[in-house]
Amino acid sequence: MIAVPEEFAQSTVARDGEAGATWIAELPGIVEELLGRWGCVPDGEVMHGGVGVIVPVRRRAEQSAVLKVSFPHPGNVHEPDAFDAWGGCGAVLLHERDDERFAMLLERVQPSTLAEAEDSDEVVTVAGRLNRRLAIPAPPGLPRLRERAVAWEEQLYEDAEELPHALPRQVLDAALATVRELGRAQPDTLVHGDFHARNILRADREPWLAVDPKGYVGDPAYDGGTLLKSRALTLLEADDLRKAVHRVLDVFAEAAELDRERVQRWAQFHAVQAAFWGRRHGFRIARSGPRLDWLTEFADRLAELLTERS
Ligand SMILES: Nc1ncnc2c1ncn2[C@@H]1O[C@H](COP(=O)(O)OP(=O)(O)O)[C@@H](O)[C@H]1O
Ligand SMILES: [Mg+2]
Repeated sequence: MIAVPEEFAQSTVARDGEAGATWIAELPGIVEELLGRWGCVPDGEVMHGGVGVIVPVRRRAEQSAVLKVSFPHPGNVHEPDAFDAWGGCGAVLLHERDDERFAMLLERVQPSTLAEAEDSDEVVTVAGRLNRRLAIPAPPGLPRLRERAVAWEEQLYEDAEELPHALPRQVLDAALATVRELGRAQPDTLVHGDFHARNILRADREPWLAVDPKGYVGDPAYDGGTLLKSRALTLLEADDLRKAVHRVLDVFAEAAELDRERVQRWAQFHAVQAAFWGRRHGFRIARSGPRLDWLTEFADRLAELLTERS
């Protein structure tokens, strides 16, 4: 039986309460059953992300793979559909799936992630190129981002009214315009949806491969915003924030072959959402106190910077 990493067990219970605790208790048995069914034996330390455990395995002696079992949450339903559609181009291969168990047997790649690369331009270029490769016609049945546009818009109005904030009117208006103009009419393109450097892993078959997709359908430029948001802590260290932010947009748009303004508009929208999210729920890295205030103010600053036309 595998041992569930303690930190993963604790964070799952903290997030999902009793349902989380029940699932954690069942997890070693679920893993055992899947290993048997798919002819695998454990082959290394159990890893984890935010929502799933990753068990390195060996199958029929010669094939190295990982078994990923995620918490049964609606947000994790379409991950195998996205992998299936990509068929290994730009993402790890899907060998087996058990949707009831929220489990997949995936190609194993190296454990090091793109987040470990020091050079910001390299990180953003790799991500941009990968974004382009992953932007294929979406298979049917995946959640459409355009169907969220009305809820996004309502949430923005509600947040702006209910939460104390100092975002200028034109910043809010720009985010609302993005939802109306880009949000409501999006192409039927497969979108990763959780596109950050820790979900891009070192590989041999291709230099980098994506893992952990949400599997949305929409505008590929949407994930430019996802990526920029995930670079926020790195951007905090920049001497000239404006320059650093615009550099990320330039490099990403070029590598992804996307319209730069479109990427900037989605990034602005993500920043405004984050500024309100922080005020309402806190962030994973700071739930309250001065550090949270500082982070929400930084999100405000990013939102304002991204509102300016370059
Ligand atoms: N196919 C894989 N090969 C090797 N390591 C992997 C693979 N998939 C995930 N990992 C490792 O497990 C970590 C968490 O995986 P991820 O799919 O992102 O889980 P979560 O959905 O919980 O974030 C990754 O950062 C990586 O270190
Ligand atoms: Mg992840």
